[in-house]
Amino acid sequence: MGFFNNFFSKNRGYVMPVDLSVFKVDMHSHLIPNIDDGSKSIDETVNMLLKFESMGYRKVITTPHIMSDHYPNTKEVIIKGLKDVRRELSKLNLDIILEVAAEYYFDYELMNNIINKEELLVFGDNYLLVEFPFHSKPNEIEKLFFQLLLQGYKPVVAHFERYLYFNDIVSLAREWREKGIFIQLNFSSVFNFYGREVRCRAEKLIDSKQVDFAATDCHNIENLILLESNRSKEYLYKLSCIDLRNSDLI
Ligand SMILES: [Fe+2]
Repeated sequence: MGFFNNFFSKNRGYVMPVDLSVFKVDMHSHLIPNIDDGSKSIDETVNMLLKFESMGYRKVITTPHIMSDHYPNTKEVIIKGLKDVRRELSKLNLDIILEVAAEYYFDYELMNNIINKEELLVFGDNYLLVEFPFHSKPNEIEKLFFQLLLQGYKPVVAHFERYLYFNDIVSLAREWREKGIFIQLNFSSVFNFYGREVRCRAEKLIDSKQVDFAATDCHNIENLILLESNRSKEYLYKLSCIDLRNSDLI
């Protein structure tokens, strides 16, 4: 093999580093300390926000888990957490906006809240972040979407590429997006963080441009270091070329 063939085969999949400020807003993370499996302290939260700022982000909408079995957070708990973090941030000269919404787990409690028309934590233009179980496909996804759309919510499926029980995800993403459901992809999926299969699925979604939001789903600073150190990955570049809705949230 000649020099050029060698060079390109070694560097396949790499491009010029992506300027992460193009994403502007992160809309999925776990930065409120000690209420879910994310940040464990206010210092950890501040360090993550400093990292977001240094990567060029202008706003972070953090989304604590609301999951009745493991993290039974309420709107009040989350908003109090936001106030505590903002109080700490006001002591620093941090040029980043922090807001909250939630990552709702699809369980009985969520369906009940929707049916009872409880006010849910949304972001931007009434977007509602929903996650599904990883190991078994819930039976009533269509019913969930129907109820949410009926009530004027815009459902956003958290890390859609990670639910391996969905086959032919490109077609499914197309079908759902036509109905008014939005697709969120995790950066970490592109970097093999969840394994090869999830990475391949993420690449298919990117190649077919079936992505509405890209997010860190950051639980600790390692997730952000992973993003920063993979800025030259070809699929991060391809993702940055898609007309994502992240920047509408500014
Ligand atoms: Fe999450």
